Amino acid sequence: MLYRLVARNLAPHKGPLLLIVALQFLSTLATLYLPTLNADIIDDGVVKGRTDVIFGLGGWMLLITAGQVVCAIVATFLSARTAMGLGRAVRRDLFGTVQTFSAQEVGMFGAPSLITRTTNDVQQVQMLVLMSFTMMVTAPIMCIGGIILAMKQDVPLSALLLVILPLLVVSIWLIVRKLVPTFRKVQKQLDAINGVLREQITGISVIRAFVRRDYEAERFATANGNLTASQLRTGRLLSLMFPIIFFVVNVTSVGVLWFGGQRIDAGHMQIGALTAFLSYIMQILMSVMMAMFMFMMIPRAAVSAERIQAVLDTKPSVVDAPGAAVVDLDGALVVRDAAFQYPGAESPVLSGVSFAAAPGTTTAVIGSTGSGKSTLVNLIPRLLDATEGSISVGGHDTKSVTLDSLRGAIGLVPQKAYLFSGTVASNVRMGFPDATDEDIWAALEIAQAADFVAEMPGGLDAPIDQGGSNVSGGQRQRLCIARAVIARPALYLFDDSFSALDFATDARLRAALKPVTTNSTVLVVAQRVSTIMHADNILVLDEGRLVGQGTHAELMETSPTYQEIVTSQMTDEDQEYAA
Ligand SMILES: Nc1ncnc2c1ncn2[C@@H]1O[C@H](COP(=O)(O)OP(=O)(O)OP(=O)(O)O)[C@@H](O)[C@H]1O
Ligand SMILES: [Mg+2]
Repeated sequence: MLYRLVARNLAPHKGPLLLIVALQFLSTLATLYLPTLNADIIDDGVVKGRTDVIFGLGGWMLLITAGQVVCAIVATFLSARTAMGLGRAVRRDLFGTVQTFSAQEVGMFGAPSLITRTTNDVQQVQMLVLMSFTMMVTAPIMCIGGIILAMKQDVPLSALLLVILPLLVVSIWLIVRKLVPTFRKVQKQLDAINGVLREQITGISVIRAFVRRDYEAERFATANGNLTASQLRTGRLLSLMFPIIFFVVNVTSVGVLWFGGQRIDAGHMQIGALTAFLSYIMQILMSVMMAMFMFMMIPRAAVSAERIQAVLDTKPSVVDAPGAAVVDLDGALVVRDAAFQYPGAESPVLSGVSFAAAPGTTTAVIGSTGSGKSTLVNLIPRLLDATEGSISVGGHDTKSVTLDSLRGAIGLVPQKAYLFSGTVASNVRMGFPDATDEDIWAALEIAQAADFVAEMPGGLDAPIDQGGSNVSGGQRQRLCIARAVIARPALYLFDDSFSALDFATDARLRAALKPVTTNSTVLVVAQRVSTIMHADNILVLDEGRLVGQGTHAELMETSPTYQEIVTSQMTDEDQEYAA
């Protein structure tokens, strides 16, 4: 998984990659060569008292070191650039994939996890790639080259490696084995902490109003504590690693000097050879350490790669059907036997709903909370796909046209009024990117939003915070209505969009909508009978079923559910009058 992800995203960087490998190769060769030169200086220069040899070889060493510095700088620069490029590509893919998700897929992963996957998980993979650029080339060459060159200096002394290397490998491996499971936990706990934090920031006023601060603080403390515990555990294990490594390294130097000293005394070895030998042993141990480090990073990045790939492999449930046509749709809406069931739910939340709405008419949907009104509205622009039955807009089955043509014909005002950070103009223009300022004012006028926008500092350029949190609920609703109205769509869907408006504003808004919707189909979900009373057709929903359909007058005769709703909303005086 990790390999596939990395290989696919590195493919465009073949040139820099080859250069990095070549440069690292050269730099490692230089590292390997330097101790041998040093040994020659000592044995041929210092011991024999020849200054010219010292200067000659010393000059060489300086030159090689300078070359090595250049190689290292260029290689590191290229590595960083390539690794960051890989991170950028993976994040772009993730973002693109998430954009195609319908509410169902987002719900499956959860928004916090999608965020962690796009940020922290990508960073893990990116870091591994950066490290491996340095270590994958350097470690093996340094290890094998080091062993060969150490043996060239002195074969019997090299036997020490047979003891040290296994010791080092086994001790590091024991630690790494314990580290890996902790890494998987850490990524999950990051998801959890993101989730709690997100919910608390979004719901901060509710938390305050219900005096839940202590409870929420506790909840955050738990998530935070879990993450801290796991991180501490990895920290403790890692802190054990370095002392062990340095212990092995230092014991090794003592061993080398001890046995080497005896061999020099006996005349089997020269002093220079001993210093070179010591350097090689250190290089070999270094390379083993690097390899172990890689082994430690790989499982963590592999966990992250799995989490990333899971998102990339998820196919959105709502997609353009093969051969979907690009059509200009009018607003004629026909819903036939539509049903919807949430995946995993026991029973459908909507079933057997049939109705038709022609351009120029207004259809209203009324029903108690949870009766499936929003679900019905969401089926039309295919935010959710009906599990049974069919829906057609402009005479075309919604699944036979592209999502763009379908949604382009629809102006949706969702129940949860959402605005994006930016300005009033940027939000309204979302409905129609080419709109002029006059168009925007006209739309605001219809939505009964012009007055308060004119009073905002900056007017159209007044700033809007994320979600629209710096305007009131009713103002937000009206801006959302303006956003839908500005494109003059063929089919308007208002999901409970007038609920936050007072009666007078509600009436004015409906009156202003009339002239612009003469050729369009309007579907209005509302709780208030007064909002929908004059609609051409009223649909009464009850527990996901259509229990009545007709005009206000007809329903007053035929539908007990409708009568109940009407009665419940009448004042005492009205009821006395009705009786
Ligand atoms: N994401 C979801 N997963 C599972 N069930 C859901 C989900 N969203 C809504 N439901 C269920 O679907 C049913 C219909 O919800 P819907 O939002 O359509 O009701 P509504 O009529 O719009 O209510 P309201 O008047 O409060 O807006 C509800 O009973 C709800 O429990
Ligand atoms: Mg609703």
